[in-house]
Amino acid sequence: SIEEEEELTKQCKELLLSLPRERGWRTPYIYLFQGFWCQPTEIQAIISFQKHFQAKDSDVVVATIPKSGTTWMKALAFAIANRHRFASSKNHPLLTSNPHDLVPFFEYKVYENNQVPDLSKLPEPRFFGTHIPYPSLSNSIKNSNCKIIYISRNPFDTIVSTWHYLNKIKPESAPELTLEEAIEMFCKGSVGFGPFWNHLLGYWKESLERPNKVLFLKYEDLKADINSNVKKVATFLDCTFTVEEERGGAIEDIIKLCSFEKMKELEVNKSGKSIKNFENKNLFRKGEIGDWANYFSPEMVQKLSKVMEEKLGGSGLSF
Ligand code: A3P
Repeated sequence: SIEEEEELTKQCKELLLSLPRERGWRTPYIYLFQGFWCQPTEIQAIISFQKHFQAKDSDVVVATIPKSGTTWMKALAFAIANRHRFASSKNHPLLTSNPHDLVPFFEYKVYENNQVPDLSKLPEPRFFGTHIPYPSLSNSIKNSNCKIIYISRNPFDTIVSTWHYLNKIKPESAPELTLEEAIEMFCKGSVGFGPFWNHLLGYWKESLERPNKVLFLKYEDLKADINSNVKKVATFLDCTFTVEEERGGAIEDIIKLCSFEKMKELEVNKSGKSIKNFENKNLFRKGEIGDWANYFSPEMVQKLSKVMEEKLGGSGLSF
C-alpha cells in the first residue's frame, strides 16, 4: 500500500487530507469520497474517469459492489453480446483470458496510474466493469443510451466472500481481519464502494425508473435459473436469442462456458493475474449460496439482519 500511495498525484494527496477516513480492509485507511468509501488509488482513477470517459450508446457496463458475482456477469455479458463474433467455442477469448481483462474496470485497469487512454477505437460494443455507485458514474453514461447490468448478492454471502478474498490478497504486513470486525465495518457502511445498501438502492431506483437502461439482477436468481436470466440479459442488450439459436443449444453453450466449474479450471484462471496484479485463482472460491451459515454466529445473523431491515425495508429489495 505504500507503493500504491506513491502513485498518487499531489492533488489527490491533498484531497485525501480533507476526507473522512476509517480503517481499511486491505489498505490502512478507506476514505469517504462523494458519499462512498474507497481507497486512495481508486479515488484518483474515479476522478479521471468522471472527467474523461465518453460513453457510446452501444457500450455495456457491468456494475456491482465487490464480491457480488462481477466475474460471472462480465463473462456472461461478454459471451452473450459477442456470440456471433466468436461463434466457435474452441477459440473463445474467455478460454484464454480472465473476464476482468476482457471487461476492464474503469477504476482499476482503464484509468489507473493517472492515464487517459484513447478508447474511441475499441471494437463495439465496448465492455466495461465498475464498482462505482450510480450517482458517481460519468454524466455521459447516465445521459447516453448505453446499458448497465447490475448484479447484487445477499449481504451475508457478500461479507463472507469479501472477508475471504481480502484476507488472501492483503499485504503480508497487514493484520488479518476477523469476521466479527468485517461485519462491524460492513454494518457501519465502511466497506469498499459502500455503504452496501446505498450501492444497491442507487442502481435499484434507476432500474425501476429506466428499465431499458439498468437491468437489476441477483446472484441467487442466476443460480436458481441461469437459463431464463441469460435470455433476459440478451433481450436487454437488444440481441434476443432466435428460436434456431435456442434449438441449437446456444444458451447452454454460454452457460457452460461461464460456469464456475469451467472457469475455475482454465489455466489463465489458475495461474494468471488480472485486477491490480492479484491472482485470478482467488476470484473462484466456492460459488455457492448460503456459505455464510458456516461462519455466522446467531448474534452476527441478528446484527446484520437488523441493519439490512432498517436500510432496505420498504425499498422492495430483499434477499
Ligand atoms: P464465493 O467467495 O462465495 O465463492 P466477484 O466476481 O464479484 O469478485 O464475486 C466473487 C464470488 O463469485 C465468489 O464467491 C466466487 O466464487 C463467485 N464466482 C466466481 N465465478 C463464478 C461463476 N462463474 N459462477 C458462479 N459464481 C462465481
